[in-house]
Amino acid sequence: MNRNFALEFVRVTEAAALSSARLMGRGDEKLADQAAVDAMRNALNSIEFDGRVVIGEGERDEAPMLYIGEKVGKGGSARLDLALDPLEGTTICAKGLNNSISVIAIAEDGNFLHAPDVYMEKIAVGPEAKGAIDLNRTPTQNLKEIARAKKCSVSDLTAIILDRPRHEELIKEVRMSGARIWLIGDGDVSAAIATTEPFSGVDVLFGSGGAPEGVIAAAALRCRGGDFIGRLNFKTPDQIERARKMGITDPGRIYGIHDLAKGNVMFCATGVTQGTFLSGVRFFPGGAHSHSVVMRSETGTIRYVQTEHRFEKKNIQ
Ligand code: FBP
Repeated sequence: MNRNFALEFVRVTEAAALSSARLMGRGDEKLADQAAVDAMRNALNSIEFDGRVVIGEGERDEAPMLYIGEKVGKGGSARLDLALDPLEGTTICAKGLNNSISVIAIAEDGNFLHAPDVYMEKIAVGPEAKGAIDLNRTPTQNLKEIARAKKCSVSDLTAIILDRPRHEELIKEVRMSGARIWLIGDGDVSAAIATTEPFSGVDVLFGSGGAPEGVIAAAALRCRGGDFIGRLNFKTPDQIERARKMGITDPGRIYGIHDLAKGNVMFCATGVTQGTFLSGVRFFPGGAHSHSVVMRSETGTIRYVQTEHRFEKKNIQ
């Protein structure tokens, strides 16, 4: 995959972040999401490539833009698949809380799992604990293995978990194990990435969140040398049938990181609100500063991009 795409795609997440950040704290999730979707789609359609949305805003009948299967880009010889979330953490942005980001992951044709919009049970860890996680083990056993790999004790570990009633038992067990817990309201993509950041203070992500977000997080962790495993959580036979139509024949399968995002992948994210690894958009008269990350699995290069945008020169209000 041409490495120059990295800079092209960071403009895409920047555009989405700048648009949605204007609506931070307004209490209107839909408006903030729509602003991000419109800006991301416009930016994607200005790039010369033949793109296909594999993970997007939903299926065609439920998402007018950036729906699964939508073709984007100006055309060209590079055929790329996109797993995107123009505003990951819509509630976070609407409330002005921490860690909403705009994200896009890019892979060559056919390399992302076509994940249905169901929950996925997930575990994510950074490079030091790669290989130490298994969804067939209890959280206690996983924490022991992670502690062994990181040469520390379980009480030194911090698990990040979405604060949801469905995680009541999980939270109880992690507390019993002696590990510390960081409960978050939303945003498990940035939580998964935080496990790879040495100074984030987070060692492992546990719990179930969106399956599409799982694929995006797996792409990011591929670039950072971390590990991610997931199992789809189906609630109804109808969900299983929809997944079968998307090519998922074994509903109980455990997906490793390479099953979710294969081959060479790229990942770009821009902070919308202030976050653990990315600053949020800051406006100043006539412009804004944004903070993004661009990563490539092929080389493991991680670039942080600090951008000053001048609106008067770009015809932006
Ligand atoms: P949105 O950006 O679509 O609002 O998703 C936020 C999020 O917290 C994800 O990070 C997470 O995977 C999912 O929602 C969890 O779903 P739920 O809110 O139903 O528990």
